[in-house]
Amino acid sequence: MKVALGSDHAGFPGKEAAKRVLEQLGIPYEDFGTATDAESVDYPDYARAVGEAVVRQQADVGLLFCGTGIGIGIAANKIPGIRAAVVHDVETARLAREHNDANVLAMGVRNTSPDLLPAVIETFLKTDFAGGRHARRIEKIAALEAAASR
Ligand code: RB5
Repeated sequence: MKVALGSDHAGFPGKEAAKRVLEQLGIPYEDFGTATDAESVDYPDYARAVGEAVVRQQADVGLLFCGTGIGIGIAANKIPGIRAAVVHDVETARLAREHNDANVLAMGVRNTSPDLLPAVIETFLKTDFAGGRHARRIEKIAALEAAASR
């Protein structure tokens, strides 16, 4: 498994903490920036870099961080093939994988305790999609995407 990481300036501490978690888990990653929290940047740029890496199969999943997780999650979901879930805790991380087959996790550094990060990331990376009735719903999401591109 390989992970693509990205954040804006607000999410930068989350991205750096995620690196430490991935290193402890022995999971390789690529950091698509931003490289510092000292400069204000635009979260869609990092959502795009990470989302495209996932769609092009340069990474299996993406982890994105901004102030709330919302903006970077919205942006990532504009990329066909991306199912980004804004996750707040272990339960939403588990359900994002089991029910939604999310391939990108989006988290907010300003509204999620940093103490939760290791368990949230590990849960997201290690939980499988449940399939079954959920697969039908994912197919309907893909159909919405296809319809929008016509
Ligand atoms: C940046 O200040 C902030 O707006 C951004 O990180 C994010 O929270 C947007 O959804």
